[in-house]
This record gives sequence, C-alpha cells and structure tokens, in this order.
Amino acid sequence: MSTEFVVYPRRDGVPYPQIYSRFKVKSEDVEDEFFIQDLTVNYFDMAVDFIVENHARGAVFHRAAGTIGTEAGVDIIRKNYRAAFEQRVSLICIDAKTNEIAGLNALYLASKFDPPKPESDDPNFRKLNQTLKFIEESFNVYEHYGVDRVMFAAGLCVDKTYRGRGIATEILKARAHVLKAIGVEVTSSIFSTVGAQKAAKAAGYDENFSISYEDMDEKLPSLNFSHGYGNTCKVLSLKVK
Ligand SMILES: CC(C)(COP(=O)(O)OP(=O)(O)OC[C@H]1O[C@@H](n2cnc3c(N)ncnc32)[C@H](O)[C@@H]1OP(=O)(O)O)[C@@H](O)C(=O)NCCC(=O)NCCS
Repeated sequence: MSTEFVVYPRRDGVPYPQIYSRFKVKSEDVEDEFFIQDLTVNYFDMAVDFIVENHARGAVFHRAAGTIGTEAGVDIIRKNYRAAFEQRVSLICIDAKTNEIAGLNALYLASKFDPPKPESDDPNFRKLNQTLKFIEESFNVYEHYGVDRVMFAAGLCVDKTYRGRGIATEILKARAHVLKAIGVEVTSSIFSTVGAQKAAKAAGYDENFSISYEDMDEKLPSLNFSHGYGNTCKVLSLKVK
C-alpha cells in the first residue's frame, strides 16, 4: 500500500463500502441494470488495467505530453492510478448481470495547503505537470468556491460496449454521494473530451473554464495538442451543500 496518500475516512455512521445508485438502461429492447459503488481493493488490479486501456491510452493530455508512449511511462501512470485508488474515494460502475466493469472514475482528494509535488524525473511527466499547473492557475477552484479541500479526478471512462447509455452521467452524479460521505463540498475536473463535457453538464456541473486546444498549443509550446484541434478543454465542478 502507498504511504503517500491518506485513506479518507467517512463521516460518523457512514458505511464503507457502499452502493450509491442503481439504474436500468434499455437498449434495443434489452434492459440492463447497473450499480455504482465505492471502488474496493478487490477491483484495484482490474481497475488499473481498465482505466489504462479505456482512458489513458487515448487521453488528450497524455498524448500531448508523450507520457503514454513508452512502457516506463505506462508504469508511472499505473502507479499513479493505484495511489489514487488507495484513498478509497474512487467510483466503479458494474453491470449487475455480468459483474463486468462498465465504467470507472479515479478520484482523489487534495487540499490548498498541500505542499507542491516534487518534480518528476521524467521529462514528459514534467510537461504533463506543466499543463495541469497552467489550468490550475487559470482557474483556482479553492478560491472560486471558498473551500480548503476538493475532490479531483485522475480519469473517467466507460467501456466501449457500454458508451452512450448515460453511465458517465450517472457516475458523475454519484460523486455527490462520495462528497457527502467524506464531508467535502466540491468536486472539480478537467474534462478533455466532448462526451465527458456533455456528461458533466447533464450531471449538473458548472462550467468554470474553457480553452481551445489551438490556444493550449500556443500557451504550452513544448506540448502537442494538434490531435485535439477543433475541440476545447473545460473545467467543470459540482458543489454540494
Ligand atoms: C467520455 C465518456 C466517459 C462518456 O461516457 P458515456 O457513458 O458514453 O456518456 P453518457 O452516455 O453519460 O453521455 C452523456 C452525454 O454525452 C453525449 N456523448 C457521449 N459521448 C459522446 C461523444 N463521443 N461525442 C459527443 N457526445 C457524446 C451523449 O450523447 C450524452 O448526451 P445527451 O445527454 O445529450 O444524451 C466515454 O465516451 C469514454 O470513456 N471515452 C473515452 C475516455 C474519455 O474521453 N474520458 C474523459 C476524459 S476527461
């Protein structure tokens, strides 16, 4: 287990793990049932494989920084996901009939008092961190919502066979239940693809910041966002009472 991260406790009386939502989706006359729950340790290995294949390999930022291009890079990404999972705030959506993973959201808590992260030894990860810093400086979520702690996302994805059935939207809505369980008010993420941005809007998130990939290329010349031209990168957040 990583010692770098704290396992976030639930508020008094809130059980862990728990199922946050169940929903049915009809497609071509077949109705499937799904449930969303805490991502528990028995799923960690499968979840790392799932998120690397369904999110990281095609992720706009990893492609722009070149972090996904080597086995060493993939190893770092796998370790980072596992470290996020260790905080026990990530969410998994499961097909109730097959028990297969349908979708996943890797989530982690950070505080405005956290010390700056040490620079990576890997030049491509330094480029990636430069991008994240640029977005954080463009939109300061702590100041905007007047909070000290925020739940961020390290990746959101839905298995290709389950896409377009509202699963990402349901996962994003379920983040509100995790926030209430741990006593944190705000979740915020960079949404780099149109599908994810639409899902966040459908889940009731506020749009805080938007920038085109053409502008990202201009601001961050050491990265290459040309594969994303014509689209925008957005920050969207949700505040619960
Ligand atoms: C993006 C992703 C998570 C969406 O998951 P999903 O379960 O298919 O999303 P939903 O079914 O909840 O869709 C929500 C809305 O977005 C729309 N949408 C979904 N994918 C879309 C796409 N690729 N292009 C345009 N619209 C899309 C849906 O039609 C729906 O719109 P509606 O509310 O008007 O009906 C999924 O396509 C995926 O895993 N993609 C690869 C990884 C990725 O892009 N992750 C996000 C990075 S931040």
